[in-house]
Amino acid sequence: MTIERLNEALAALHGGHAPVPRAEDIFIGDGDYTAIAAEFLSYFVTVAGLKPDHRVLDIGSGIGRMACGLRLFLDPQRGSYLGFDPVQEGVAWCRQAYAGQEHFRFEWVDLYNELYKPDGTILSTEFVFPVEASSVDLAIATSVFTHLYEPEIAAYLRQTARALTPEGRLFATAYLHDGDRPAPSDRPHLVFDQQDRDYPHRWHVEGAPPLSAVCFSEEYFAQLVAENTGRRADIRPGRWRGGPGPWFQDLVLI
Ligand SMILES: C[S@@+](CC[C@H](N)C(=O)[O-])C[C@H]1O[C@@H](n2cnc3c(N)ncnc32)[C@H](O)[C@@H]1O
Repeated sequence: MTIERLNEALAALHGGHAPVPRAEDIFIGDGDYTAIAAEFLSYFVTVAGLKPDHRVLDIGSGIGRMACGLRLFLDPQRGSYLGFDPVQEGVAWCRQAYAGQEHFRFEWVDLYNELYKPDGTILSTEFVFPVEASSVDLAIATSVFTHLYEPEIAAYLRQTARALTPEGRLFATAYLHDGDRPAPSDRPHLVFDQQDRDYPHRWHVEGAPPLSAVCFSEEYFAQLVAENTGRRADIRPGRWRGGPGPWFQDLVLI
């Protein structure tokens, strides 16, 4: 039943039945918008156990790339989606694209981010997710912890732990490394060759803004998860570091 519904949603996505922003408005990175939506919807269902009646929280919802697949999968009567993001244009576009779909909500929160929202007025470390405790079946944070510092991630992990039902899960992506340093990469934007002087478990890309991509030691990240959620992180290496994937960034399931 769930897999049938997934296949229908994927067919609809590939058939162009999802709202897609204009290319010049997409601020969340390269790649085919709907192909990435389809890929991640499959992971949400087959890896994280998403069901049509689930309540989903999208942390850093951007310009609706994850929402568009979820909208075709979640049951309009029993499932729901809430996304939040500091980039007002992205949230405004989503609100318009999903107008009239009561089970889909997007909130703009003026969160500070050195790269995405340098004039933001709310610190992530002080932000309370706009959901009740134990009310979320699946939280997602795709390509968000790749743009935050440790205290922000720690705060978001605590908020996620509060939001999730006991059986609920977090599906996040990150760049993590094992051993002493990140794996070499042939993609210039992923050459993590700058080790932070004060936080040696964190690496950046030389010549790029620090938050354009962050890579943490896997051991450190697992500890951050354990300390802030009381749960064990299931880390599945992505292709970017030679892992089996098929996902590109590492998956972190909590
Ligand atoms: C690479 S984009 C990924 C967007 C979306 N998750 C996706 O996969 O399409 C990173 C997103 O994180 C958002 N972001 C940055 N700082 C944030 C914060 N403190 N809290 C929530 N989202 C944040 C950015 O505005 C941006 O939309």
